[in-house]
Amino acid sequence: MIFRQLFESVSCSYTYLLASRHGGEALIIDPVIEKVDRYFQLLEELELRLVKAVDTHCHADHITGLGELRDRTRCITVMGRKTAVDVISMRVDNGDTIDIEDISLRVLYTPGHTDDSYCFAMDDRIFTGDTLLIRSTGRTDLQNGSAHDAYDSLFEKVLTLDNETSVYPGHDYKGDTVSTIGEEKAFNPRLQVSSAEEYAKIMDNLDLPDPKMMDQAVPANLAIGFHPNDPVVSEYTLSVAEAVERLGNRDTLFIDLREDSERERDGVITGSIHAPYPIFGSSVKSGGLMNAMVNETGKSLLLYCAYGERSALALKFLSECGTKNAYHLGGGIDAWKNADLPLEKPSS
Ligand SMILES: [Fe+2]
Repeated sequence: MIFRQLFESVSCSYTYLLASRHGGEALIIDPVIEKVDRYFQLLEELELRLVKAVDTHCHADHITGLGELRDRTRCITVMGRKTAVDVISMRVDNGDTIDIEDISLRVLYTPGHTDDSYCFAMDDRIFTGDTLLIRSTGRTDLQNGSAHDAYDSLFEKVLTLDNETSVYPGHDYKGDTVSTIGEEKAFNPRLQVSSAEEYAKIMDNLDLPDPKMMDQAVPANLAIGFHPNDPVVSEYTLSVAEAVERLGNRDTLFIDLREDSERERDGVITGSIHAPYPIFGSSVKSGGLMNAMVNETGKSLLLYCAYGERSALALKFLSECGTKNAYHLGGGIDAWKNADLPLEKPSS
């Protein structure tokens, strides 16, 4: 496995790059906007294709690189379901997995530092964001944080992993890079407590100043969604009401760009065809299946995903490839569900 721990020195943030092989798919955790060029250099050197960019939570001390990475690579942006970030491509829940080629991260919902904090675990390691730091823990006084929730997340989830599990935090201010669950249980001073009340007492008395970047970082990080200036995307975005009118219409093919796990969890629009976003690109190019379906059958494509981000990016790509007869569902399945429209279980 390719694994890189990258450091951003202003906010002392760690970013993690993961891939199963040279030349394969890559995933990045907690990228920082100022370092995006560095990530690109590394991706290029290792011949990796970035397919997912993930944030553990909405950061208060730096601006995330998620939006920039998506705009430059069309990668899928991922955060937890509880986040207030305006649009991201894919939201994950406790127990879900985030998958790329031969790598799977298990999602743990770990509120406390913020109410949208998540940790991501593999067999031998866990990426803890600001939930668990080396010999410390994330503050709980900002962004709907809660010391009681943090205690539960730590003691009922993170610290139940094997003692040998490596801990890769979102920050370190002393220069430490990695720890283990066993080491933190034994030596982290904040974890030497026997109740949530005792933990809350420590956390409530930290008296920390607000992060320097907070006033810029939080609003910027809440608004990273894809808001295309591209007139093609605006013109070919359909509302739920407009999309419903096309349901059952033989001239329109509904194309679901989501992954199997999202389809299983949330259901699919009846009669739609599955074309997962990561492979959609190649089928859109001249000679690809999707290209042929549109250009040779004369049918319209109606692309949809979870929130309308992947479908907007795919639509933009289709138009760049010269395809005119394609639309996308604004707001995705989320908007469809909010309108109380039916979804069915995908056929397996
Ligand atoms: Fe944080």
